[in-house]
Amino acid sequence: MSERGESPEGGLRWRTSGSGPSVALLIHGYPFFSALWEAQLAAVPPGWRFIAPDLPGFGDSPPPTRMPMTLDDVADELVLLLEKLGVRRAVVCGLSMGGYVAFRLWARHSARIAGLVLAHTRARPDEPEVRLGRYETASRARAEGVGFLADAMLPRLLSPETFAERPAVVERLRAIIASATVPGVVAALGAMAERPDSTDLLPGIRVPALVIAGAGDAIAPPAEMEGMVAAMPAARFMEIPGVAHVSCMEAPAVFNAALASFLRGLDLT
Ligand code: MLT
Repeated sequence: MSERGESPEGGLRWRTSGSGPSVALLIHGYPFFSALWEAQLAAVPPGWRFIAPDLPGFGDSPPPTRMPMTLDDVADELVLLLEKLGVRRAVVCGLSMGGYVAFRLWARHSARIAGLVLAHTRARPDEPEVRLGRYETASRARAEGVGFLADAMLPRLLSPETFAERPAVVERLRAIIASATVPGVVAALGAMAERPDSTDLLPGIRVPALVIAGAGDAIAPPAEMEGMVAAMPAARFMEIPGVAHVSCMEAPAVFNAALASFLRGLDLT
């Protein structure tokens, strides 16, 4: 069972599970919150503590304090959270937007990172049409709320196999998306649209890294992710069959086994 965390000084909320000297920070994607990691928080390997924050405006976290929000702001807030929880160094695991944030953490606070798990994410910035689409979505969310998001996004987030064989996952992800707030969605869309190119960071990422792609992921295509791995000195690549963009929910057993094996192999001394 995970526990909810909140502190009297405010700031980001989080869930945590497991206990031990080693910490993994699980950063959710857009437009989700820490519940994305329910299956991981339920299966924390011995000796590890998993901390899953809610990013600004998602889950129980307050909206961003500054608009427009940048992913650098988010990275800095996560460091404040780690400090508050007494964590000096952690393995950072980011899914999609969580991976974009992980790159900003690396750019600004690399000494805090003991290893990286990059799931369904990209180092490249948005193509112009993707950026434009984000601003259109933000305008629509401001005008009518976020009720349209789940139907608009689910077909790209989940594979045909997940739709056919795991209806509970489809409904859980729908509920997670439905809980998003307009300020969180608008802030995240702007931050993703304006994120810098992280490609130049890749050769300098010398900590061990696991890069996880979904065979049916059109948002973070496996071939592009494999290209990231080729540029990283200590990364390994895995592609999960039968999933699209959210393998931690679509194939939790496979995801958890890969994560546990990666964490076991780290030398954190
Ligand atoms: C996510 O899952 O975080 C989003 O799909 C990322 C994106 O839209 O680029």
